[in-house]
Amino acid sequence: MTESRPGNDSPRESPSPGEPVSPSLLLPVKEPAAPIVPPEARVAGSEKKRRLVRAASVPTRPGCVLAVGGGKGGIGKSLIAANLGIELARRGKRVVLIDADLGGANLHTCLGVQPPKVTLSDFIDRKVGKLNQVVVPAGLPNLGLVSGALDSLDVANPRHGEKVKLLRNLRALPVDFVLLDLGAGTSYNVLDFFLTADHGILVLVPEPTSVENGYRFIKAAFFRRLAAIQAVYGIEDLVTEAMSRRQENGIKTPYEVIAAVHERDPAAGENLEREMGRFRPGLIVNQARSDTDREVGNAVVAAWHKYFGLEMDYLGAIGYDDEVWKAVRKRRPVLLESPGSETAVAMARIADRLLQLDGTSGPAQAVR
Ligand SMILES: Nc1ncnc2c1ncn2[C@@H]1O[C@H](COP(=O)(O)OP(=O)(O)OP(=O)(O)O)[C@@H](O)[C@H]1O
Ligand SMILES: [Mg+2]
Repeated sequence: MTESRPGNDSPRESPSPGEPVSPSLLLPVKEPAAPIVPPEARVAGSEKKRRLVRAASVPTRPGCVLAVGGGKGGIGKSLIAANLGIELARRGKRVVLIDADLGGANLHTCLGVQPPKVTLSDFIDRKVGKLNQVVVPAGLPNLGLVSGALDSLDVANPRHGEKVKLLRNLRALPVDFVLLDLGAGTSYNVLDFFLTADHGILVLVPEPTSVENGYRFIKAAFFRRLAAIQAVYGIEDLVTEAMSRRQENGIKTPYEVIAAVHERDPAAGENLEREMGRFRPGLIVNQARSDTDREVGNAVVAAWHKYFGLEMDYLGAIGYDDEVWKAVRKRRPVLLESPGSETAVAMARIADRLLQLDGTSGPAQAVR
């Protein structure tokens, strides 16, 4: 398959007034690299390091937040979130899956559990005070679920403050991994969940439309993060100027925006470059039918580097697998219904790679 080239920035992807960005959320607090330790063992010291900007490569640690997103619907985000959660739980990690597809919640069905009586609505509507009060068992040890609101418009469109509260509470859950299943599209809600994660994982299928949507998604996330960084460093004017003179200066990519800022103010440019360099999403290609399809992941990573000047980690591919849709029809996760399936093997490799990436910051290797 030919590599799909990222297109030019569209105005709606630029930093825009829109919904306010909360810098403290987009640049979550991080602690130095540490091995997984049980939450009980991390009481001391967890308060002291309110660091503004997160580490380039985030170590696995209690409460590591993963978010599975992508520009398109129906590409396997929920399938991956549910089964990756199961894979990690089976390895003894404590995992809470959160159905953050506000307005389109169906993660409980992917997991084969009944619609829970308590959902995210109860937390958002303040019927309960803590997020862990809406965690329900998800069918196997170590795995919990926060189900999305099934019919609440309030939750489908949370107010900014509600979203901030939810994002903050993710890190208070006493688990090893919080895994967010995101909705489709590039709304601010989706992007903010993606950006708050320690590892944002982009899913795409090897079709030009999906690859295009994938770039659009990741570019929108990039600009949302850029907006937060501008606010932190007080360089809104410089970035706005670079953005507004895009046409006349021939600026086409996010990397060139950074270069333009650098030209005007080297110190500001360096800050921006360093912070944006920390924007390092993971990538999964789903429904691959050939080796060429699997190579699309490496091509996307290479294009992201070439045109955006940034890194992305290819976590691996999942083949198109009849066992998947058969399991979906039985309302069972494929890892439980068909543990020897190609998808189960692929999911295990992806989990290996994800865990391996924790605490490392070297460039991604090509993955087949
Ligand atoms: N690897 C695969 N092999 C075969 N079928 C697949 C595969 N991945 C996904 N599917 C099919 O695609 C359907 C949609 O997957 P899923 O619900 O995970 O997508 P989604 O990206 O979460 O969609 P939405 O944005 O609507 O929530 C699944 O129900 C399944 O039938
Ligand atoms: Mg989904």
